[in-house]
Amino acid sequence: MPCKRALIALLCLTIIVLITSICQSFHTNFRAVGRNGTLRYEPTELDLGQMRFLAGLSDSENLRRTVQRISIKRVVGTPGHSKVRNYIVDYLKKLDWNVELDLFTQKVPIKSAVTFQNIVARQNPRAQRYLMFGCHYDSKYFKDFDFMAATDSAVPCALLLNMATILRNQFHRSDISLMLVFFDGEEAFGEWSAEDSLYGSRHLAELWEKHGLLDKIDLFVLLDLIGARDVVFKKNIPNTSGWFHRLVQLEKMLFQAGILRLERPLFKFEPSTDVDDDHLPFTRRNVPVIHLISNKYPAVWHLAEDVEKNVDYNTTEQVGLVLRMFVMEYLNSAPNTVYQL
Ligand SMILES: *[C@@H]1O[C@H](CO)[C@@H](O)[C@H](O)[C@H]1NC(C)=O
Ligand SMILES: *[C@@H]1O[C@H](CO)[C@@H](O)[C@H](O)[C@H]1NC(C)=O
Ligand SMILES: *[C@@H]1O[C@H](CO)[C@@H](O)[C@H](O)[C@H]1NC(C)=O
Ligand SMILES: [Zn+2]
Repeated sequence: MPCKRALIALLCLTIIVLITSICQSFHTNFRAVGRNGTLRYEPTELDLGQMRFLAGLSDSENLRRTVQRISIKRVVGTPGHSKVRNYIVDYLKKLDWNVELDLFTQKVPIKSAVTFQNIVARQNPRAQRYLMFGCHYDSKYFKDFDFMAATDSAVPCALLLNMATILRNQFHRSDISLMLVFFDGEEAFGEWSAEDSLYGSRHLAELWEKHGLLDKIDLFVLLDLIGARDVVFKKNIPNTSGWFHRLVQLEKMLFQAGILRLERPLFKFEPSTDVDDDHLPFTRRNVPVIHLISNKYPAVWHLAEDVEKNVDYNTTEQVGLVLRMFVMEYLNSAPNTVYQL
C-alpha cells in the first residue's frame, strides 16, 4: 500500500534527521577550541596501525627515572626546588625546545618574600596556535615531615617530560605546536585560599592576557594528582566534554587493540564536579581547559607516604599512552605507517 510506504519513508526520514542533528551538536562541541571557543577544529583521527606504532615508542625506564628525579622536597625557594627546576629546563633544552622562565617575587604567608619561576617550554616558539599541557613542579611545605609529593605533581610533570622524549622525532607540522608549562607555587604556604595558592598560574595568565598570548592557546590540558593505582578521570568541565570524550574513545581503542595492560578504563565519560587548580586563572579568561585530576584523591595525598616507591606505573603508563595518542592526533602528526620500515 502506497500510504503505508509513505508513512515508513516519513518515519525513516525523521529518524535520519534526528540522528544527524544529534551528531552535529556533538561535532560542534567536539571542534570548539581557542579562547572564547571561537575556532573550529577537528583533527584527522589516528588509525590502528598508527596507534600501534606510537605505542611501540613507549619508554618506561625513562618515566621511572624522571619521576625519581622530581620526587624530592622542592618547596619554593629551597635548594631542592632549584634542582628540580634546573633538571626540567636542561631536560627540555637538550631536546631542542625553546625554554623560558617567568620570574616574579611576592610576599607569602609563613615565609617572607619568595621568588617564583614558571617554566614555559615551546616546541616551536613561532607557532600561531598551541596545544598546551601543564603541571605544577613545586611541593607543599609541611612543618612536621618531608613531603616528596610524587603524585602531587612529580608524576604529572614526569609524564610531560616522558612525552617530549618519546615524541621527539614525531612532530611534523608547525602551525599548531605543543607547549609545556611547569607552574610554580600551586600549593598554599598556609591554609589554601584564593590569595594563598596558584601563585604561578595567576601570574602567567595575567601576563599572557596583557600580551595577547592567551588567544594563541587552542586547549589547555592540566594534569594533577596522578600516580596512584585507583586514578580515574571524569568529565568535570562541560565546555570541553567533546575533547574529553576523545580521550575516552582513544583509551577504548587502545584497549580493543590489545595494547593496554590494565583491564579497566581510567577515563570515564561521567559528570563530576571540578576542583580549584592551576587552570582557574585560565578558565576565568575563557581558555578551554581539560582538567585531568584524579576524581578520587590519592590515599597518600599530602602525606609523607606520597613517595616514588608508591607510584603505580601500570596506571601511569596508561595515562601517558592515551595522552600521547591525543597529542599526535591533535597536532596532525600521525606517523605514516605505510612508509614505516
Ligand atoms: C576573547 O574574549 C576576550 C574578552 O572579551 C577578548 O579580549 C579577546 O580578544 C577574545 N579573544 C578571542 C580570540 O576571541
Ligand atoms: C563555557 O561555556 C559557557 C556557555 O556557552 C560560556 O559562557 C563560558 O564562557 C565558556 N567557558 C569557557 C572557559 O570557554
Ligand atoms: C602491572 O602489570 C603487570 C603485568 O600485567 C603485573 O604483573 C604487575 O603486577 C602490575 N603491577 C602493579 C603494580 O599493578
Ligand atoms: Zn597538593
